[in-house]
Amino acid sequence: MAGLFEEIEINGMRLRNRLVRSATWEGMCDGEGLPTDKLCHCYAALAQGQVGLIITGYAYVSREGRQLPGQMGIDTDCGEGAYKRLTGAVHEAGGVVVIQLVHAGGQSTTAEAGRVPLAPSSLEAEQFPEIPEELTLSEIERIIKAFGKAARRAVRLGFDGVQLHGAHGYLINQFLSPHTNRRKDRYGGDISSRACFCLEVYEEVRRVVGKDYPVMIKLTGSDNMENGFTLEDALYVAHRLSDMGIDAIEVSSGTRASGEKNPAREHIDSPYKEGYNVALAGRIKAVTACPVGAVGGIRSYEVAESALQRGLIDFAAMSRPLIWEPDLALRWQRGDMAPARCVSCNACFVPGLEEGGVYCVVKKRWEGGI
Ligand SMILES: Cc1cc2nc3c(=O)[nH]c(=O)nc-3n(C[C@H](O)[C@H](O)[C@H](O)COP(=O)(O)O)c2cc1C
Repeated sequence: MAGLFEEIEINGMRLRNRLVRSATWEGMCDGEGLPTDKLCHCYAALAQGQVGLIITGYAYVSREGRQLPGQMGIDTDCGEGAYKRLTGAVHEAGGVVVIQLVHAGGQSTTAEAGRVPLAPSSLEAEQFPEIPEELTLSEIERIIKAFGKAARRAVRLGFDGVQLHGAHGYLINQFLSPHTNRRKDRYGGDISSRACFCLEVYEEVRRVVGKDYPVMIKLTGSDNMENGFTLEDALYVAHRLSDMGIDAIEVSSGTRASGEKNPAREHIDSPYKEGYNVALAGRIKAVTACPVGAVGGIRSYEVAESALQRGLIDFAAMSRPLIWEPDLALRWQRGDMAPARCVSCNACFVPGLEEGGVYCVVKKRWEGGI
């Protein structure tokens, strides 16, 4: 089995190691969703820190699919210069960068979406800030096309690949889950119908970018809630995507309605709590032909390496640890094997909302001697 610091190739995209920066909204784009110099510095630091692959923060493919301030947007042809500076900064530092494509669906708000949010079904759900409107068939078609157009822009702007956001309760996950999808047409019902939207988005993106461009998905392995999307459902979707030629699957789980088992769990303070999606990833890997990774609570080299050696994953993805230590891969490669310093408190979200960009609040306190 390959180790964490061995190369991996994903449809021609060569990664120098298997430590992946999972998509992380940084809150560092301008009002139009375009990358700023601050974001370029952030990505350059990750690339210099030797991470194998950087996946951008989620980028909305259509204006009404936006969720948070400072979010990246790839919904128009504007801002070519800003995007090329971002991809250029990563490549100059020897890195590889994939853009994550999202539509927030019912997890958006009228304030961010600029209209009442759209979702598979109009219903009250803990994960929805407002009651969304049900998508019409023509709106579904428009959004599927918007994913394709965004992918075409990604190629032109110098990204090395795209990743569909199929987790964390966003639109693709909303269609997949019986919790949020009560449709009576061909997009709702059993898992083969609930999977339609996801598979059609993938098909459209693949049609646009061609077979040689890396297309990945961050797929939920479970909603971690009663009457939600299950591992059995995930095995079906992963198997179908694999058959259709998806290039890699990063497994996550949960939504903001999943309580303690939300995507970014807190208090990962022992090796036993680490890697909470590795087992799901292992199950998914067993039914797919492409590389499969896991994200969620991976904090130590030993846990990542052991998951690789047991054949459960092909790459290990991290988000919060790299906010404190963008050079974690380099530190481990140089022989300092202490676990990531991240304490999994999620305080990093707050400056993203209030101060124009995420940073590690605990690190700041620590450096300030507070
Ligand atoms: C500040 C912040 C922003 C995030 N933004 C995204 C995002 O844009 N897309 C996504 O798929 N996940 C996002 N996540 C979730 C992470 O990618 C990851 O799945 C989760 O934090 C668990 O991994 P970790 O324990 O390594 O942090 C975000 C997490 C945090 C803390």
